[in-house]
Amino acid sequence: MNVSQSLIPRLSTGPVPPPVSAAVRPHAAVRLSEVLSALTFALDLTEGQRPGHTLRTCVLAMRLGRAVGLSEGELEALYYAALLKDAGCSSNAARMAALFGSDDQDVKRNMRFVDWQDRWKLAMRTAQNCGVGRSPLARLRHFLMIARTPDMTRDIIQARCERGAAIAAQLGFPRQSSEAIAFVDEQWCGLGHPTGISGSEIPMLSRILLLAQTLEAYVTEEGLDAGMRMVRDRRGRWFDPQFADIVLTWKHDAALWHALADQDGLQDAVIALEPTSVPTMATDDRLDAIAQGFASVIDAKSPFTGQHSTNVARYAAAMASSAGRSPQYVREVLRAGLLHDLGKLGISNRILDKPGKLTPAERTVIQNHPKWTWEILRHVPAFAPIAASASLHHERLDGGGYPWGLSESVLNETARLLSLADVYEALSADRPYRAGLPVDTILGIMRKDVGTAFDRDLFDTAESLARDGTFAAIAQTSDQPLVEVPGIIPLREAQRRIA
Ligand SMILES: [Fe+2]
Ligand SMILES: [Fe+2]
Repeated sequence: MNVSQSLIPRLSTGPVPPPVSAAVRPHAAVRLSEVLSALTFALDLTEGQRPGHTLRTCVLAMRLGRAVGLSEGELEALYYAALLKDAGCSSNAARMAALFGSDDQDVKRNMRFVDWQDRWKLAMRTAQNCGVGRSPLARLRHFLMIARTPDMTRDIIQARCERGAAIAAQLGFPRQSSEAIAFVDEQWCGLGHPTGISGSEIPMLSRILLLAQTLEAYVTEEGLDAGMRMVRDRRGRWFDPQFADIVLTWKHDAALWHALADQDGLQDAVIALEPTSVPTMATDDRLDAIAQGFASVIDAKSPFTGQHSTNVARYAAAMASSAGRSPQYVREVLRAGLLHDLGKLGISNRILDKPGKLTPAERTVIQNHPKWTWEILRHVPAFAPIAASASLHHERLDGGGYPWGLSESVLNETARLLSLADVYEALSADRPYRAGLPVDTILGIMRKDVGTAFDRDLFDTAESLARDGTFAAIAQTSDQPLVEVPGIIPLREAQRRIA
């Protein structure tokens, strides 16, 4: 499965980004909830969920949270936990694809519908999802590989939950939000993952989230009756029985299910649910931190990309700064760099990490990732101004780039900076199959494309920053925070705190 029309009907593959100018447009103040809710579509893509899965989960979770009498502080923690619950989902995508030998998004979506406690059904569903489209022997090989890895499910869930919890902490959300994400796959009876805690040992917000996200997936995929049957069946096994009983009373609440089915009104509904009397605003520092947080989600998608987004952003920003651009412009370049590969979240790791030659169809899927960057970012308040330039990073001055084949007249400076930074980073970074190339070799390769792919003046800027060691210094400090924001901590520190 790749980025498919069925997964994202509201996203199209057709439109060309509008001509972009180098003008820096200040953004109007926006609410944090507006930014995060719009970005959840990227997380739905990675997790193989229907568009709006996270938003619908948030609606259900908040309703349940209010029904059980959570305090305002707890509701706030639940709200952000619901929006970020899948922030760690990219960290296990490569492993899922390698183990199953199938598209990770398909596997993730399909395995969510199996009751793990039923060993027979689990084995059957696992077999169905192994080596899809491959020979019977290959399918059997993947099935046996999974069967011989008894801790596989726990490890995969642990990686996702810990990473998601750390990203919530990194972004400065309440500790309870991180905790809710860390234990979201624990089950009431103690057979969940990763720790197997049970009953009221499981944080209350995690119990709410598990019920909300599972119900959402069933109702959206199989209908309301199936969703309610699932809740009744798993009451007291997966779910807190008291919470399950509350949810079962919602069956005839037509207004709720209509609201959830209204894709166009969903985001506004979620923004209206923000549980504070004074909306939390997305300051510039906070927007930088969100861009950085999502860059780490993007880079975690593949073992080959390491710190790619962060380094591309820093290289491009260093070039803009060296060229004497304003701090506000440099900040836009930085954000565009951090988010330029957002669309890669929609690509299966079976294709993204394929060791052999790509088929033409697979190549098209890879080359379309900037379209998804564009489609997602242009709907995110405050990031919309950088959407076009971020999505033009594989275009060339001579029109021979992808995915749109745009040429010089519409490629603004940010796009040209990102194009240079993207190639420089790809050539300089270590890969599992080769070490990073030396500066002279990289510049020699890139110089051949000056004037056809790359802007001549900006290449000169890049060359001087490569030769004076600026880029190398940036690469060595890529795990350092880009901005110092009170309450927002580096990812590595966040991981240490929640471990
Ligand atoms: Fe890219
Ligand atoms: Fe890139």
